[in-house]
Amino acid sequence: MNVKIIPASPANSATLAALHQACFDRGWSETEFNVFFERDGMVSFIAYAPCHPAGRVSDSAGSYADAAPDADASSQNDITNAAGFIFCWVVAGESELLAMGVLKPYRKQGVAHQLLTDACQRCADLGAAKMHLEVGVKNDAAQALYARHGFEITGRRAGYYHASDGTLEDALTMTKTCEIVTPVAKHTGVW
Ligand SMILES: CC(C)(COP(=O)(O)OP(=O)(O)OC[C@H]1O[C@@H](n2cnc3c(N)ncnc32)[C@H](O)[C@@H]1OP(=O)(O)O)[C@@H](O)C(=O)NCCC(=O)NCCS
Repeated sequence: MNVKIIPASPANSATLAALHQACFDRGWSETEFNVFFERDGMVSFIAYAPCHPAGRVSDSAGSYADAAPDADASSQNDITNAAGFIFCWVVAGESELLAMGVLKPYRKQGVAHQLLTDACQRCADLGAAKMHLEVGVKNDAAQALYARHGFEITGRRAGYYHASDGTLEDALTMTKTCEIVTPVAKHTGVW
């Protein structure tokens, strides 16, 4: 899918919260995203789709290009065309993928791949040699995505995730080396 990946800032916390809440059992609030953004080294992107799969177009003219900002998403806090997000933290020469998600209508179309590619690049640019993450042991889709991106399993954390129904789920820890990708090599369709 031809999405537009735009850096997110604290101005987008409401959009990030809406996306997170739509993708996870216990969604993070706008305030929680604002608190995260107070740290140095936050890396976040939002993917905007040209139109909703159900046919709801981005603006009255039906033009995505007219509706989306070119440089950043600071003026846009509209969930209408947001398809997914990624939220990472660079600290002490390494990075951590804190959260990512794609709304159901946009899944299996390469949106997460594009978000992860851009986030890894940005984290490497900021000096991260590696990226770490946790993923639920039952989350086959995310595990497949991360494996496809070169993440390798490094460990397991018992009872890491607490579902709203009180159940616990173990997490796998995964790590990959961040490589700086040249612009020519990005988004060529070749993984
Ligand atoms: C995991 C998630 C982010 C994937 O987003 P997506 O945009 O559908 O992923 P992509 O289309 O970019 O898929 C990239 C690769 O991931 C893997 N993948 C994605 N969804 C998959 C699925 N349902 N089953 C198996 N593999 C899957 C595939 O390897 C795929 O590459 P391929 O299509 O060439 O085989 C999405 O399912 C999601 O938001 N889930 C809920 C939130 C979540 O679990 N976030 C991760 C928490 S750690």
